[in-house]
Amino acid sequence: MIAAYSATSQARVNAALDTLFTPPSPELARLYDAMRYSVMNGGKRVRPLLAYAACEALGGKAEQANGAACAVELIHAYSLVHDDLPAMDDDDLRRGQPTTHKKFDEACAILAGDGLQSLAFSALLDPRLSTSDADIRLQMVSALALAAGPAGMVGGQAIDLGSVGLKLDQKALEYMHRHKTGALIEVSVKLGALASGRAEKDELKSLQTYAQAIGLAFQVQDDILDVESDTETLGKRQGADIARDKPTYPALLGLDAAKAYALELRDQALHALRPFDAAAEPLRDLARYIVERRS
Ligand code: IPE
Ligand code: IPE
Ligand code: MG
Ligand code: MG
Ligand code: MG
Repeated sequence: MIAAYSATSQARVNAALDTLFTPPSPELARLYDAMRYSVMNGGKRVRPLLAYAACEALGGKAEQANGAACAVELIHAYSLVHDDLPAMDDDDLRRGQPTTHKKFDEACAILAGDGLQSLAFSALLDPRLSTSDADIRLQMVSALALAAGPAGMVGGQAIDLGSVGLKLDQKALEYMHRHKTGALIEVSVKLGALASGRAEKDELKSLQTYAQAIGLAFQVQDDILDVESDTETLGKRQGADIARDKPTYPALLGLDAAKAYALELRDQALHALRPFDAAAEPLRDLARYIVERRS
C-alpha cells in the first residue's frame, strides 16, 4: 500500500515541482540549474506525501494539496543545500550525488537555497497549485513562515551547530530535533489539512499530535540510520554524525533505546489518529514507514 501510494504521490509532486525552474532570463540559467539540481534529484518526498495524506484524511482530493506539497519540499531542499555547506555539516554527497556546492560552487549553493526558500512561498500562492481561498492561503503562509524560520527549523539548525561536541541531555536534544526536523514535518501535515478546505479545530489538533510524534521519530530514525546503514543505501555519508561528534539519540541513549523510542513515538502518532476513518490509512502507513525505513 505505502509503495503504491508513494509512487503516485511522488509522481504528482515531481510533475508540479518540475514546472518551477524556468529561468526568466538567460543570465539566470546557472542559478536555476542549481535550484533544479537540488530538488529534482530523487529524495523520498516524505513531506509532500504527508501533505497529500493529511488532505485526503479530511476528505479532500490530493491535487488540492499540490501547492502545499511543493512548498514543503522546496523548503526541505533549501535546508539540505545549506545543511551540506562547509560552514555547516560539510558533506559532499546528497541523494547519491555531489552536494550542490560541490556540483556548482558555494556562492551558487547559498543563492540556490535562498531562491528555493522564496519559491516555496510562491508555490503556496500559485493559483495553478493552490487554493484561491484568501483566508486559507494566509493561514498556510503564516504557518510555513513560522515553521521554517528562526522559531522553527532555522532555530533548530542553530542549536544543532552550537551543540557540536557538547553533551546535551534528552530534553535539550528533543528540543533541537523538534525544531530542526519536526517543525517542517508538522507543518507539512497542517498545510495538507488546510488545503482540503475542510479542517475543523479538533481535527487539526489531533493531526498536530500525530505530526509532532512522527516529526521527532523521523529525526530519531535519521540518527539511527547514520549509525547502522551504509553510504550507498543512504545516498549520504554514513557515520557523519559520529565523525563530527553530533548530539544524537543513539549517542545519548544507545542504539536499542533509540529504536524503542522511535517505536513509542510511532504508537503515539497512531493513537492520535484514532478519531479518523479509513481515509487516514495513508497517514497511518507513513507513521509506520518513518520508523521502519532503511534510507
Ligand atoms: C534528511 O531528510 C534530513 C533530515 C531532516 C533528517 P530526508 O531523509 O527526508 O531526505 P530526502 O529528502 O529523502 O533526501
Ligand atoms: C538536517 O539534519 C536537518 C535540516 C536540514 C533542517 P541532518 O544534518 O541530520 O540531516 P542529514 O543527515 O545531513 O540529511
Ligand atoms: Mg545537520
Ligand atoms: Mg547534515
Ligand atoms: Mg542526519
